[in-house]
Amino acid sequence: MDPQTLTELLDVSVLDRLDRIEDLPADELARSSALRKEGYSAEVTAALLTQAQLRKDAVKKLGPFAEDMLFTRDGLAQATRLPVAAHHARRLLGEGKDTGGDEGADDSADAADSTPSIADLGCGIGADSFAFAGMGAQVTAVDADEVTAAIATFNLRHLANASAAHARAEDSDTSTFDALWFDPARRTVGKGTNSGSTARIFDPEDFSPSLSWVIDKALAAKAAGVKLGPALDHSLIPDEAEAQWVSHLGEVVEVCLYFGEARQRPGRSALVMGERTLLVHEDDLPADDEDGVGELGRYLLEPDGAIVRAGLVTALCGPLQARRVHPKIAYLTTDVEPSGPASAGVTTYEVTDVLPAKIPSLRKALISRGIGSVVIKKRGADIVPDQVRRQLKLPAGDKATLVFTRLGDRHVVLLTQPC
Ligand SMILES: C[S@@+](CC[C@H](N)C(=O)[O-])C[C@H]1O[C@@H](n2cnc3c(N)ncnc32)[C@H](O)[C@@H]1O
Repeated sequence: MDPQTLTELLDVSVLDRLDRIEDLPADELARSSALRKEGYSAEVTAALLTQAQLRKDAVKKLGPFAEDMLFTRDGLAQATRLPVAAHHARRLLGEGKDTGGDEGADDSADAADSTPSIADLGCGIGADSFAFAGMGAQVTAVDADEVTAAIATFNLRHLANASAAHARAEDSDTSTFDALWFDPARRTVGKGTNSGSTARIFDPEDFSPSLSWVIDKALAAKAAGVKLGPALDHSLIPDEAEAQWVSHLGEVVEVCLYFGEARQRPGRSALVMGERTLLVHEDDLPADDEDGVGELGRYLLEPDGAIVRAGLVTALCGPLQARRVHPKIAYLTTDVEPSGPASAGVTTYEVTDVLPAKIPSLRKALISRGIGSVVIKKRGADIVPDQVRRQLKLPAGDKATLVFTRLGDRHVVLLTQPC
């Protein structure tokens, strides 16, 4: 969306039309011609249709708030999911820390002074800022993209304690804030904000702002958080930081580096957020250097991706009475069906058979067991699941999950059922 179209979209009557867009026929063409008949330009009509779609798409990340917000496609793709943003807010606001306030003091000036201030330096459409302000912080947000900054301003309009401006992080005075938040852009900018033609940036110095600039600022701050992609090379994590990988509803969404007062426990940790929450920390790793490999048991356990990315798979061995199937493969095995808090960190499959990995023998073995439909998983096996499924050409039959992996030096296929 270009700045001129955004200005037109921000007109009260146009926004009102967006809020009532469901009154129009659902069919896109019919909707478009109805809007044109009402006098909207081609650009504003396209913007209204795009915003209506983006609001729908955004509900998954931002819940009902999405219905009252504006987006760019890139901005929505990069926005933090609200429950995860609330977790960032708790960390920056020092949740669980003693505030040291005077007992019984009820002076409003003191109360105002104690409101923590957070700078969001590259705020996007404002999802993190929304959570920071919603949880009581005084938020100053900036974004280097003019349209994105204007959209963040709109999205934060109901929060008196938050504002957004069009500015570069590098030009901001960061010295006066209680906490700094960074979520550097890690994709190239698409041609036209809604084109979706972006590509991942691999060199951290090409992030915007660059990772070295961000880390320098974070190290100097009272408290800071830096959101990065979960594939981050562990060697880039400064010793002073706590690195926490986060998954939400089964998807690994980020690694976040916390500094200063936002750092709770140094080292690596994994936070599994979903129906149940699990926190696994580097200190939970077994003390010995053993790789923990053992015989295949009755169950195969697939650890959550955040735990895998954090390099903490063996931390689950003790609580789940489990062992690894191979020193380099992130599957565990156990004879006892997982229960208790640590079971939130794995998906469990009951192993019913160990089958040969060669396609003709595998096909024969599956047909003889009446299996006709397979979900294929792999770790440590050089296969392309869709290709294998096509090669198997199974006749109709029961459903099963096939796990292509290694037991010691042997390439095997485990025939399993999800528990
Ligand atoms: C990953 S997004 C932030 C998403 C945000 N945390 C959210 O949850 O909505 C990164 C943003 O940084 C902005 N940006 C890139 N370089 C910047 C810079 N030097 N200063 C300020 N903002 C910048 C981009 O325009 C983009 O909107």
